[in-house]
Amino acid sequence: MTAVAIDGPAGAGKSSVARAAAKRLGYIYVDTGALYRAVGLKFLKSGADTTLNCDIQSVLDNTVVEIKFINGEQRVMLDGNDVSDEIRTPEASKMASAVSAKPQVRAFLLEMQRKAAADNNVIMDGRDIATVVLPDAEVKIYLTASAEVRAERRYKELIEKGADVSLDEVLSDIINRDNADMNREIAPLKKADDAVLADTSDCSFDESVELIVGIIKERVE
Ligand code: DC
Repeated sequence: MTAVAIDGPAGAGKSSVARAAAKRLGYIYVDTGALYRAVGLKFLKSGADTTLNCDIQSVLDNTVVEIKFINGEQRVMLDGNDVSDEIRTPEASKMASAVSAKPQVRAFLLEMQRKAAADNNVIMDGRDIATVVLPDAEVKIYLTASAEVRAERRYKELIEKGADVSLDEVLSDIINRDNADMNREIAPLKKADDAVLADTSDCSFDESVELIVGIIKERVE
């Protein structure tokens, strides 16, 4: 089985680029952020807020998160229900970020991620895939773009959806998230020493996919 680990900051286009690259190569794409989002949703449903002033382990002891692949597409199950759409709300995003800083939550999701890579040829994306989850992955990529470029891409998406935001707001949100992800105590976002740096600041979506597919082919074939 071949494992490709792709890490990088929020808004770098990891998921869409990784999904397209996986399709091209016939690999399964595993989005680990969705697992943190499912756990975040569970805490939201349990009545917790982002301070997580609750007994985290006892909530986890009553939580079942599963990944399923339907026609090659990942679905995420929480306590037997498909929550793949529900985890995309802004509330679930905030809770995902809060729970992802908790060691109990990271431990809870670790084996599930490793098992997904043991059973399939995968491209797995997240924040700590190359550094913690799959340190022996055949290919490690750190996919990034400048904060300004990521903010512009996100801003365009939000405006298309009819949101009322300014570019400055989106940029400061991205910078804050980078700081939170890179400076948390446990499994912080960082480039693994042996990861290839892929900076897509000057790339279109198609060029980004080409870049990633090229890096993978060079190392695997
Ligand atoms: O990639 P995303 O936005 O769906 O991730 C949701 C949250 O989970 C985000 O705050 C970062 C966190 N996360 C993480 O800590 N480790 C991962 N491997 C994937 C996501």
